[in-house]
Amino acid sequence: MAKQIIVGVCAGISAYKSAELVRLLCKADYTVHVVMTKSAVKFIAPLTFEALTGHRVYTHLFESQHPSAMDHIELARWAQSILIAPATADFIARLRCGIADDLLSTLCLATTAPIILAPAMNQKMWSNPATQDNIQSIQQRGIRLIGPGIGDQACGDTGPGRMVEPQQILDQLSDADAADNLLTKRRVLITAGPTREPIDPVRYISNHSSGKMGYALAHAAINAGAKVTLVSGPVAISSPQTATTIQVQTAKQMHDAVMGHISCQDIYIGCAAVSDYSPAQVSTTKLKKNADTLTVILNKTQDIVRAVASSHADVFCVGFAAETNDLEHYAREKLRDKQLDMIIANQVGIADGGFSSDNNAASVLWNNGQQTFSLRSKKRLAVDIIKIIAQHYYASKHTT
Ligand SMILES: Cc1cc2nc3c(=O)[nH]c(=O)nc-3n(C[C@H](O)[C@H](O)[C@H](O)COP(=O)(O)O)c2cc1C
Repeated sequence: MAKQIIVGVCAGISAYKSAELVRLLCKADYTVHVVMTKSAVKFIAPLTFEALTGHRVYTHLFESQHPSAMDHIELARWAQSILIAPATADFIARLRCGIADDLLSTLCLATTAPIILAPAMNQKMWSNPATQDNIQSIQQRGIRLIGPGIGDQACGDTGPGRMVEPQQILDQLSDADAADNLLTKRRVLITAGPTREPIDPVRYISNHSSGKMGYALAHAAINAGAKVTLVSGPVAISSPQTATTIQVQTAKQMHDAVMGHISCQDIYIGCAAVSDYSPAQVSTTKLKKNADTLTVILNKTQDIVRAVASSHADVFCVGFAAETNDLEHYAREKLRDKQLDMIIANQVGIADGGFSSDNNAASVLWNNGQQTFSLRSKKRLAVDIIKIIAQHYYASKHTT
């Protein structure tokens, strides 16, 4: 299937290489739209890309030909990936800060598609701490880099900063696409977010889960080609457009939604922070602040991941263990006790990482092995986790 890709072209000498890159992408069955910064047109004419792609080239934020006048939104929705080559030091700085002062930077803010950069600049510009700091920051957010290469530069210097050759960029994209197709035709059910257990009409028991990890997993599974069903507790994140999302509030509703959809799934990932207990009785009227103490009796909720693992042996079942201490010990115990295929252990209650953070570190454990992922963006971690789940899922199919 041809992929829908936006090639962003910034104002650097290597913009001449972008024409060859676009030609190769078109030849490799990508549908390509080119978006240029306003300075990039000083280096190469839009007409070159129009002739190569057969599509108009986008250069301005305020000259939209779309009826909604919002090219940035239309393009952001259309793109399955955005490749910026060359990416200038200036553009990388704007991307890092979330500046949206032209069409390319605005659509990068508006998209959920993966962004890949092929940086190109003078070696001193590349080594400058400002650029290095920007690079580190965007990589933590899950933005991928191809290059830069090391060698002779147009300015006469030698060092890191050359744009990687177009054929190599295409090869690296194809490798990523192979990972993208890992779960084609597979059905994956993911739970995300917290649950809310009502005490009365205005109060509830919940936890700090933001849903970011579960939603990142849903995006990563979709990008890997899976058909995703997302059962989500209350969170402040928009649902992935291509997932079937079922919104729930309580642990019981989450249990029922999962059990109602599990039979046609290949993989289950229980990432939600499901309440372990819920009030035995829910008052129909608001409880008054009369007594000095208030006792709320709690009943244990149903264990969703255990229910899936025990009733659907054919579904590859992945649990999450969020612990404040003895992480791997508790995670391995859970893996055994609940008869899971895999468990993702992550530490909560630390400075960075855990519940509401954009970053996380995790250890992935299975029967006779484990792999640890150091602190990285939840988006990046989700891609890593989906890859390892896919590997073990297919291995389990070969041994049964
Ligand atoms: C001849 C010339 C070549 C340039 N080459 C580069 C380059 O290779 N990489 C880079 O980061 N900036 C380069 N610059 C500087 C950028 O063009 C400048 O920072 C510009 O504002 C970038 O705009 P853009 O990021 O919107 O495309 C060059 C400038 C000139 C005049």
